[in-house]
Amino acid sequence: MRALVTGGCGFIGSHVVRSLVADGWEVINLDRMTYAANPANVAEVVRHPRYRFVQGDICDGALVRELVGVADVVLNFAAETHVDRSLLDPGVFVRTDVEGVVMLLEALRERPGTALVHMSTDEVFGSIPAPLEAREDRAFAPSSPYAASKAAAELMIRAYAETYGMAVTVVRCCNVFGPRQHLEKFIPLFTMRALAGEPMPLYGDGMQEREWLYVDDLVEAVRLVLEGLPTVAGVRAVHVGSGERVANRATAEMICDLLGRPRELITPVADRPGHDRRYALDSSRMRELGWAPRRRFVEGLAETVRWYRDHGAAWARTAQGDFARYFERQYGERLGRR
Ligand code: DAU
Repeated sequence: MRALVTGGCGFIGSHVVRSLVADGWEVINLDRMTYAANPANVAEVVRHPRYRFVQGDICDGALVRELVGVADVVLNFAAETHVDRSLLDPGVFVRTDVEGVVMLLEALRERPGTALVHMSTDEVFGSIPAPLEAREDRAFAPSSPYAASKAAAELMIRAYAETYGMAVTVVRCCNVFGPRQHLEKFIPLFTMRALAGEPMPLYGDGMQEREWLYVDDLVEAVRLVLEGLPTVAGVRAVHVGSGERVANRATAEMICDLLGRPRELITPVADRPGHDRRYALDSSRMRELGWAPRRRFVEGLAETVRWYRDHGAAWARTAQGDFARYFERQYGERLGRR
């Protein structure tokens, strides 16, 4: 089987690329190499005969048509993914997360035999009040430009599936974490700040809950989805969540404890505007297919924190983009006016 993986140099995409190549798949990795991509993420497969890298944009219709034309399945991980950045610059989210998906759909409608697996997010539902869990048919209510761009992409997918009889799988995932996640995200950022003995900027009261899934468990879910791709026209959505929902403050404290750093480093700062309080997925559909996460949050967190302690600094040096500049823009004032 030959997969076209988009965004395969990013966090989740690269874990999937390495898993597929290791298991005998041919993989074409189409990545624009934005700030979120890191060539080190695919270093292990870069010379593999079944791996091909193409630097390019999913908004480039001609390129996408050419690559979709030689693939059996398209896995779309290419996206702008960071909520805070979507508040600073929403336009790029509309471009990559919505227009890019339309480019993929345009190419796919000419290729009825090629499947699409699209990565989406629990954020399309907005905040879920306890004790509710979001089922696959819940109405969208996105709170951020990022979440709205992912919801819009799903609506486009639905429209194409209806109009052209395409069979598409949408994987909606909770918060994924693990090695090689960009430093802008909560767990890597707090780990690196704790390691450096620097203030860890906790938004608002820190009582927002996130559902955490270790990246290897998501890869297993994606692999299971690939084993049972739908043939009937329409959108099949599946929720991939761990059920382990943890308040941000508790996660921050666990990171301090794992590293033997004082909890006083946790520094409350101005909240993220529109900050969702709680995400919670009902993942029973995936569990009925035989999927279950293997790692508890505490185990995955310990492993992740160890990885950043041992490799984080060297890995971050191979990243694209200017993280220090972003950090200043995002946190300078917040941390300055405490
Ligand atoms: O829920 C799935 C989503 O998880 C994915 O669709 C997104 O692509 C991914 O970025 C992630 O979104 P979050 O906004 O939940 O992740 P983030 O790591 O930015 O933040 C996690 C929580 O930590 C959130 O409640 C905000 C809080 N936070 C985050 C940062 C970066 C802080 O308190 N301080 C921070 O500096």
